[in-house]
Parts: sequence; structure tokens; C-alpha cells
Amino acid sequence: MSLQAIRYRRGSLQILNQLLLPQQSLYEEISSVRQGWEAIRAMKVRGAPAIAIVGCLSLAVELHNKGSSEQSVSDLEHWVLDSLSYLVSARPTAVNMARAAQELGHFVRQEAKCKEATAKRLQESVISWAEAMLEKDLKDNRSIGDHGAQHLLQQVGPGKVTVLTHCNTGSLATSGYGTALGVIRSLHAMGCLEHVYCTETRPYNQGARLTAYELVYEQIPATLIADSMASVTMKEKKVSAVFVGADRVVANGDTANKVGTYQLAIAAKYHGIPFYVAAPSTSCDLSLKHGRQIVIEERPSQELTDVNGVRVAAPGIGVWNPAFDVCPHDLITGGIVTEFGVFAPAELQAALTQASNKKGTH
Ligand code: MRU
Repeated sequence: MSLQAIRYRRGSLQILNQLLLPQQSLYEEISSVRQGWEAIRAMKVRGAPAIAIVGCLSLAVELHNKGSSEQSVSDLEHWVLDSLSYLVSARPTAVNMARAAQELGHFVRQEAKCKEATAKRLQESVISWAEAMLEKDLKDNRSIGDHGAQHLLQQVGPGKVTVLTHCNTGSLATSGYGTALGVIRSLHAMGCLEHVYCTETRPYNQGARLTAYELVYEQIPATLIADSMASVTMKEKKVSAVFVGADRVVANGDTANKVGTYQLAIAAKYHGIPFYVAAPSTSCDLSLKHGRQIVIEERPSQELTDVNGVRVAAPGIGVWNPAFDVCPHDLITGGIVTEFGVFAPAELQAALTQASNKKGTH
């Protein structure tokens, strides 16, 4: 069975504390919006889709447990809207929580306006909305995995492929299966995966701690490399493609993802290796035209200067610690893999607009 980072049933949410992995597998109860915010901020849960899912489910759990009997429809509506704004403030770069807040906010305003609206009904519909996210993300990830795997196999022809990946984009970063790691999972399931190289992902080591853990857990043949070994790995190890995830893909295809993504894309282009971004449409933000508009989170200097709480950097040195970088669209040579298919960066906006028109959403 694949790893389950989020355990949910109505009224109860537990997350696998990713700060303790791989040494310890400890599930922690999240019973309020505040605890959801704190878990996201502290990176007990991380990865763009998982941030939004845990944020919205923390709201659903608190809403379920607080009951609705003493509240008016308007009080409940405002509590949901305030909670959503608060959750968005936990981390700025991944767009998923902001998008979920916008969509759930719109939904709750509409529901509250209905003639038949009661606090009980509003409570029920908000909880169901959040629960549906969990299922949809899992389904989308499976589609992303299959689209990405088939696309790569068509490009490279017969034989097994070797993939390099960065950060953690697997079951731990999503509702399950993963995005870029989902493609790797699909390739493995199809018997077409020769090997995976996963980067350590400095400074916070999501690759060494989390992706390596998932790959070992799933018994996928894999090797850990330091980030500084990526170019030589591409040169020496017959890498067929690079697959990474995304925190925000904007209208022209520029993509914010874990810091180090940009240099991987440059190295891949130099070596003529296709570079893919795998992300659900919930990680896309068509309201921004280009990557320079994306807010990049800066994290505490200790992530760079310390290892396991022990300082390794020379005292007094200055530190810059952006958690993400922006990969320009022209370096995404393989394509952007979504649940709707694989698109060149220039095709993405039209494809997503068409898909959402079909669904009747905006
Ligand atoms: O800082 P993190 O660990 O939340 O960053 C995660 C990434 O950059 C992932 O690649 C991205 O969120 C996609 S996860 C499916």
C-alpha cells in the first residue's frame, strides 16, 4: 500500500509529521484551523496540493466539531471566509491554498445567499466541498502519472527510461500517488522504469528525507545524489528526462518550484534532455502573466546554516534562503503534465481555459 500522509474521516484529521521522517512515522491530530495553519507553516505537511488539502480539511474538522446550532448563517459564512484568509497566509508561493480559498469562498457566499440556507446546511456543504478535494486530487494524480509516462515513452521510443527528479512530489506532498513522483510510479508500474535519481534538495532535504523514503518504501530502483551532482548525472547516467512538480504555474508557463529547479532545467537543456513539470490544474494560476509576479517565500537562515540543530556554517556569514525559484517556460522542453494531458507551455492557458469551460467553472 502506498504511503498515506493524510488520514481523514469526518470529524478527524491526522497528518504524518514530515519533520520527523524518515526516523519516525508519527501521525498528529489536527483539530482546528489554527493547528492546520501551524502544521503548514512549520512544514509538518508540505507540497503544494497537500498544503491546500490539509488547510481545507482542518477547517472541515473544526466546523464539524463546533456544531452549527448556535450560529447564524451569516456568522458561519464569515467564520469560513476569515479562516480561509488565515490559511492562505501560512505560506505564500504555492497557489493551491489560495485557489481553494477563492473557490470555497465563492461557494460559501453562494450557499449562504440561498433562500433555504440554514447553518446546518451550510456547515454540511462546506465539509463536503473540502472532502471532495481529497478524492479529486488522488484521481488527478493518477491521470498525471499516466499522461506523463505515456508522453515520455512516446518521445524516447522502446526500452526503459531513467528519470531525475527534485524535491518531494509524492504521496507525502499530495493526497496520494504524487505528481512528478506519480509519473515515476506509473513508469515503474508499466515495467518501463530503469532507474530514478533523486536530488538531496538542499537546504531542507525534502529529496533525501522524503523522496528517498518513498522510493525505498515503494521498492523503486533509485539513487540519491547531491544537488551539485545533477549535471554530471545527466552527462554520465543516461538520464532520459527530468520530472519536477510545481508550486505555481502561471499563464505563460513559467513555473515556481523548489529552489534548484531552475538550474536543473538549464542543465537539462544543455544536455538535450526533456524537462517536464507535472502539476494538477489546482497548481496553475492564470491570473499571473509571468513568473516575475510570483511571490517567493524566504525561509529562516537556520535551514542553511544548521544540520539537525547543529550549526555547520561559519558564524557571522550572511544567508539568503529563497525556498523556490522560477523556471522560465522556454526551459520546460518536455511539457507541462496536467490531469488533462501534456501541453507545451504556450498551449497551457488555452488548454486549461477549455477544460474549465467544459466543467462550467471559471
Ligand atoms: O517547500 P516545499 O517542500 O513545500 O516545496 C515543495 C515543492 O516545491 C514541490 O515540488 C511542489 O510543491 C509540488 S508537490 C506535488
